[in-house]
Amino acid sequence: MRRPWNLVLQHKLDPDLASPLYLQLVHALIHEIERGRLRPGSPLPSTRDLAGELGLNRKTVLSAYEELVSQGWLETSGRRGTMVATNLPDGPPRAIDIQAPIDRAPIYRFAPPPERPIAVPSGRRIKLDEGSPDGSLFPPEVLARAYRTAALFSARRQQLGYGDPRGSEKLRESLVTMLREERGMVADAETICITRGSQMAISIAARLLARPGAVALAESLTYEPAVAALRGAGMPVLPVGMGPDGIDVDAVEHACRRHTVAALFLTPHHQFPTTISLEPQKRLRLIDLARQFGFAIIEDDYDHEFRLGSQPLLPMAAYAPDVVIYVGSLSKLLLPALRVGYLVAPAQVIASAAHLVSVSDGMGNRLTEDAVAMLIEEGEVRRHLRKATRIYAERRDVLAQAVNEQFADMASARLPEGGLAMWLEFHDLAALRAIEAGAEGAGISFAPSESYRLDDTASYGLRLGFASHRSDRAVEAVGILARIGRGEG
Ligand SMILES: Cc1ncc(COP(=O)(O)O)c(C=O)c1O
Repeated sequence: MRRPWNLVLQHKLDPDLASPLYLQLVHALIHEIERGRLRPGSPLPSTRDLAGELGLNRKTVLSAYEELVSQGWLETSGRRGTMVATNLPDGPPRAIDIQAPIDRAPIYRFAPPPERPIAVPSGRRIKLDEGSPDGSLFPPEVLARAYRTAALFSARRQQLGYGDPRGSEKLRESLVTMLREERGMVADAETICITRGSQMAISIAARLLARPGAVALAESLTYEPAVAALRGAGMPVLPVGMGPDGIDVDAVEHACRRHTVAALFLTPHHQFPTTISLEPQKRLRLIDLARQFGFAIIEDDYDHEFRLGSQPLLPMAAYAPDVVIYVGSLSKLLLPALRVGYLVAPAQVIASAAHLVSVSDGMGNRLTEDAVAMLIEEGEVRRHLRKATRIYAERRDVLAQAVNEQFADMASARLPEGGLAMWLEFHDLAALRAIEAGAEGAGISFAPSESYRLDDTASYGLRLGFASHRSDRAVEAVGILARIGRGEG
């Protein structure tokens, strides 16, 4: 049935608004129904006519009508076309006011971010990260192919529904082999839980370990997001002092005698941020202390793969799986955007971790996990690792040379034997302050030195990643920062 008159809408449609035109039309029509201008049973213009009247594409009107039919505001009958539903519920359904500005203050209370949210360097001309990989080194076609194969593989086995919160069995099996062969760890699929990156794994470990009255320990220079996760789980985090060769084990013992310690967060392979590898004697003493005082060591092995020098030590989890909750990640090895990390611990602990996964994100991302398993099994990961390690070693050497030349009078740097970053410890604090104050203006961003410090005993430094950018960019940035530090910027 044709309408005799044009339909003039009270709410005007505006193509410059963020919300799509078809949704604007949906809400404009609901508004007309609500205020009684369009009555139950009254016909609407054909999509062609209304599109012509409003200067819209016919598809836009069609989408709006379809949406309104599915919401119950309109109905269609072949002969009479589209009309306002005859059986609108008592008082028609209330429209959501799409004009409500999203910046309107909420009426409820919510937790604000902490005083200093986690620092993520971004947005400037040159971003000196804390050790990100170079995502452009992994061929996107290989990734796309793996996703395609994973989708077909899962669809054929009808495995695209809900699944095990511990993650894809295929990936867990692949990790079992990798951990056994490369890291000397004895695990099985029951002792691994896949997470969305190692950050989630740390956060789950923190929640598993937190109990009333207990504290966590971390080195006085440490990884801030881990501290945030431990605190977020309800545990105060006490700093433990460090010497030139890493954590002060006596200070750990002292803390255990004074407090109920539930967890010690460590990055023994390449200490974050200083890159030092924790020596075997200290590892063994820490394991003894953990057994004596009943705490867990959260071993964050975030960049295990990249060894640029000597043979690495095995993870602590390889010889003390009863004490260590091991955290691994494919972010550095492959791509951070995949969000694949994992926990390794005894099966009872993994069952609890799986429960936390199921209440936070259900089950993770099966397609991604299967795709990653295929990349591992087909040797793509190994191939990528060989290529990336060679490139990163060159980038490290160039950055180290630039840093040594430019910062010699302000700071000392050590050549890291592995990982993707170097630590620049400042003895000239005035220079560091000048650099931190002036970098932004010079278009360079990095995590502030304070973000690594858990207490005032910690030294001051910057962690400079060398992997994610071409060497000339890094050298340029180092030159600019050093000039600012010398007061020439
Ligand atoms: C020490 C350390 N732990 C954990 C992570 C988290 O990595 P992801 O969540 O991407 O696995 C990072 C990332 O840079 C890190 O440096």
